Amino acid sequence: MKNLIIAANWKSNMTKDEAKKWLEEFSIKEFPQVIEVVLLAPFTLLDMVSSYVKVNSLPIQVGAQDVSPFDKGPYTGEVAAGQIKEFGSYVLIGHSERRSNFIENDEMVNKKIERAKSAGIKTIVCVSTMDQVNKLPDEELIIAYEPPGAISTSGPGAHAEDPNAVAEFVKKVKELKQSLVIYGGSVNPDDVKNYTNLEDVHGALVGAKSLDPQSFSDIIKNAV
Ligand code: PGA
Repeated sequence: MKNLIIAANWKSNMTKDEAKKWLEEFSIKEFPQVIEVVLLAPFTLLDMVSSYVKVNSLPIQVGAQDVSPFDKGPYTGEVAAGQIKEFGSYVLIGHSERRSNFIENDEMVNKKIERAKSAGIKTIVCVSTMDQVNKLPDEELIIAYEPPGAISTSGPGAHAEDPNAVAEFVKKVKELKQSLVIYGGSVNPDDVKNYTNLEDVHGALVGAKSLDPQSFSDIIKNAV
């Protein structure tokens, strides 16, 4: 059986109390060994979430949703990879919401990958086109294929990508890169397996449905 990564992208949601409630309600304390569960939390929650996971020995990896393109230093408002490393082992880079709302280009994405790599943090890099894939460095990355129109909160008409189209895109990625590829966009407990069943798809990046601990638990259970 192949290894899977199921990552929760909480985006700009959850206060400390809400996140604590989520963790208490998250029903799975043991996952199938083949699944790596990753919680991508806002910076403000990394300390609390990572402590909770450690104290309760939950088999969950914690990560951030962005990283500074610079090392530590005079970069007001930024959070450097070395600071994230204290709490988490993953970082999400180049999400389409960052590319569009914060004018994050491929050059910026690559700088962030470099910073994360030098701090020893695993990167999940979001792409929606082959052009973006082409511009990625030849390094060990996890690539999340997320067509922006498939993201549940992207507006009216948002819908999950057809699994055949995902398979086709991922095939092209694999011709170019050694990376593991996961799929993101409106993933829910009922359709997760349509994606994880695809030969070269190694997991899912989950937004809206990760905010509900029961739905996220069901996605994990249904992924294998
Ligand atoms: P969604 O978000 O699951 O709500 O579509 C996925 C993402 O944006 O990472």
